[in-house]
Amino acid sequence: MQFQWYPGHMTKAKRAMQEDIKLIDVIIELVDSRVPFSSKNPDIDTLANGKSRILLMNKYDLADKAVSDKWTKYYEEKGYFVATVNSKNGRGVKAVNDVIQKACKEKIERDRKRGILNRPIRAMIVGIPNVGKSTFINSFAGKACAKTGNKPGVTKGKQWIRLNKNVELLDTPGILWPKFEDQQVGLNLAFIGSIKDELYNIYELSLLLLDYLIKNYPDAVADFYEIENSDSNNELLERIAIKRGCIKSGAEYDLDKAAKCLVDDFRNGRIGKISLEIPG
Ligand code: G4P
Repeated sequence: MQFQWYPGHMTKAKRAMQEDIKLIDVIIELVDSRVPFSSKNPDIDTLANGKSRILLMNKYDLADKAVSDKWTKYYEEKGYFVATVNSKNGRGVKAVNDVIQKACKEKIERDRKRGILNRPIRAMIVGIPNVGKSTFINSFAGKACAKTGNKPGVTKGKQWIRLNKNVELLDTPGILWPKFEDQQVGLNLAFIGSIKDELYNIYELSLLLLDYLIKNYPDAVADFYEIENSDSNNELLERIAIKRGCIKSGAEYDLDKAAKCLVDDFRNGRIGKISLEIPG
């Protein structure tokens, strides 16, 4: 399956982000824990040059814990401060405050030496669509946090959320564009639902997903649907179709519908905690 998608607004978004990055001390980059490489846009490395970097592996609840541990180590070795979070139920979100303090230790020290005390750290969330940026911001900021509004000397129109006395968060996240020159990256992004449905064929996508699942989590599909495994992915999909009542008139299998069921069940974590890529 070939993916091609060149967002026209990319250059504009890049320029806007460059401006925002000038205002902040630390970049908090969200990735999807199931695909921590494919959901990470490498262009941010250039854009964020010189800033402290935090990598949040969001949707940790959906990924394979053992594999996520490997990713944590992998990115820590690359110089990131890494944390795993579930923004949906808030698990791990509070601890991000401590990670911010750690990531900005040198800056806080520099300020202190210059006699600047208690200047809040300014942070910004970035990530590709659908990784959970808004969910994270809502969970992290909570209801009690006041927006601080425009500030003298800071670009007009910027809204900051005062999280506590130490941290201010730019209230709009930076949207990075998914980058998938590599077809495997495109495929992984399609599996997790970060690529528009019109850009792929759901039946083909489901067969490729089955390929991966059978190789890496051999019993997950059979156990979840309570069906027999099969050497043929098409046959497996037919079994899912029967189980889920995806039958057209004339007793024909509705494989597109079964494919959609499978992909949805995977995306929502119903088939299990599954990671789609491992470091290296
Ligand atoms: P974005 O701003 O980066 O585009 O992402 P957004 O917060 O809109 O989140 C995209 C989807 O991911 C939402 O689901 C959201 O609930 C879900 N999500 C975010 N963080 C987590 C997480 O840590 N774990 C899990 N399991 N899901 C997460 P949705 O289907 O679009 O909406 P809904 O299910 O909330 O109604």
